[in-house]
Amino acid sequence: MNILVTGSNGQGGNEMRVLSKEHGKHQYFFTDVVEADDTYLLDITDKAAVSAFVEAHSIDLIVNCAAYTNVDKAETDQALCELLNAQAPENLAVAMKEVGGLLIHISTDYVFGGDPYNTPCREDQKGTPTGVYGLTKLHGEQRILATGVNHIIIRTAWLYSEFGKNFVKTMLNLTATRPQLKVVFDQVGTPTYAYDLAEVIYDIIENRKYEGKTGIYHFSNEGVCSWYDFTKMIAAYSGQTSCDIQPCHSNEFPSPVKRPAYSVLDKTKIKESFGITIPYWTDSLKKCINNLKSI
Ligand SMILES: NC(=O)c1ccc[n+]([C@@H]2O[C@H](COP(=O)([O-])OP(=O)(O)OC[C@H]3O[C@@H](n4cnc5c(N)ncnc54)[C@H](OP(=O)(O)O)[C@@H]3O)[C@@H](O)[C@H]2O)c1
Repeated sequence: MNILVTGSNGQGGNEMRVLSKEHGKHQYFFTDVVEADDTYLLDITDKAAVSAFVEAHSIDLIVNCAAYTNVDKAETDQALCELLNAQAPENLAVAMKEVGGLLIHISTDYVFGGDPYNTPCREDQKGTPTGVYGLTKLHGEQRILATGVNHIIIRTAWLYSEFGKNFVKTMLNLTATRPQLKVVFDQVGTPTYAYDLAEVIYDIIENRKYEGKTGIYHFSNEGVCSWYDFTKMIAAYSGQTSCDIQPCHSNEFPSPVKRPAYSVLDKTKIKESFGITIPYWTDSLKKCINNLKSI
């Protein structure tokens, strides 16, 4: 198969590159808005460019890792956020529908959060986004479904990796340089190592597990924590003991957007449908921090 990966300079896309180099059976085309030696230029908001790329390389399957992911900035950049998170996934869906292909699309736990949940969110639960980012990602899902394309939409949460900017890297830096740090304990979810997410996508592709499995799925690491707990473990695994890390409420940090208080994902469906086991969040965090130490 010929597989197009979009947004491949980001966290999810780079982890897909790592895996395809290790054991890929198929031909992968890595693309992004910034061209490089091993990255083709493809702006997914350009519908004609998407169709042309799919035709030129006889693409059978798209993994969409591209998105507008700046949750705060999205509040004042709604048009671009909608274009990239909703219109562009529709462009990819239409292109795959035309050739009878499959779209694997990544969405977010931030499609939830408006209701006061206290049990893990299921795939069939109504989306209640609290901000523009979550709303546009929900629109993206809806626009994909409306095309009737074969799809696997995977909602994930709190992504981190060795690549790009993310919470783990930020906290490694802050806990190493500040004597004291306050981190919110009233937002609860589950961190996800982007490598673990890519591994599941890879397994679905390479082992043709997608057949007859069109639908929405949830994936994060196992377990539950707050951003405060997450930070405590980041400091512990990096051997950082000098920073005094204290829990605080979200209202102590002025933010342009209200983030979900609880957006834990129920992963029963993805585990049962694809026969996978999911690593516990602290085990994956330890792996990522060890990899970062060796860079
Ligand atoms: N990050 C999280 O915590 C998180 C949580 C839940 C779900 N997700 C979802 O997981 C997926 C992957 O997230 P990520 O953290 O890997 O994202 P990321 O690191 O921000 O990567 C996204 C990539 O898409 C590129 N891109 C931007 N505009 C584009 C365009 N018009 N055409 C093609 N590519 C474009 C970006 O390039 P530039 O950087 O140059 O703009 C970047 O390389 C996204 O769907 C996201 O919504 C993320």
